[in-house]
Amino acid sequence: MRVAGQVVARTLEALERSIVPGMTRTVELDELAEKLLAEEGAKSSFRGYRGYPNTVCIAVNEEVVHGIPGDRIIQSGDIVGIDVGAIVEGYHGDSAITVPVGDVTDEARRLLRVARDALFRGIAKARAGNRLSDISHAVQQHAERHGYSIVRDLVGHGIGSEMHEEPQVPNFGKPGRGPVLEAGMTLAIEPMVNASGYEIESLPDKWTVVTKDRSLSAHFEHTVAVTAKGPDILTLRREETVRR
Ligand code: MF3
Ligand code: CO
Repeated sequence: MRVAGQVVARTLEALERSIVPGMTRTVELDELAEKLLAEEGAKSSFRGYRGYPNTVCIAVNEEVVHGIPGDRIIQSGDIVGIDVGAIVEGYHGDSAITVPVGDVTDEARRLLRVARDALFRGIAKARAGNRLSDISHAVQQHAERHGYSIVRDLVGHGIGSEMHEEPQVPNFGKPGRGPVLEAGMTLAIEPMVNASGYEIESLPDKWTVVTKDRSLSAHFEHTVAVTAKGPDILTLRREETVRR
């Protein structure tokens, strides 16, 4: 899973770097990802999953997750969610980032920072002996303390030889509930943080999820192993610093 996770991490870095404001269509990120995964001997976890037609998901601005790559041109000022899942030798890695492109408002930057920090607050609770909802609660607290809302209808998940395994990992809830975490468990923690209301809806393409009020949304995801020494982020990127 670490091998798959690191393929995902490198792919995310490359996709982020490839964006040229005003030039890049979201489908170009999909094509690049397909090529990079093939070079690494990996396959997309997403393509064909419940009929999903692409390699990665790209969610721009008010799009929350599961955006289908297409002809939309990424503009300066956009925030772009990039979600990559890869399978290598039967095991999955799954990670997402939301990146600012060009000249982005301070409000949007703040949303990105809070959403990423919420993920890391959750990861910090992924320790043996804690309960699953300790993760959920920490994520929710952080986002709501900053005036944002947490999407309820979509959740994180266990991950391993399947992309989606038990248990579901909500990003909200009371602490101290759900299964006790044990060393060896692997979880994909993936808060979706909306600038305004938490309601979402799907576009007619049946995949792209948007905020109901069309406010901005940010999504960050890591695949994390619970170990005797604490959380081990399998999809950590080289350029990423872990804030504690
Ligand atoms: N990271 C997302 C998830 O964990 C990606 C799934 S997209 C899909 O659910 F197309 F594969 F469904
Ligand atoms: Co996921």
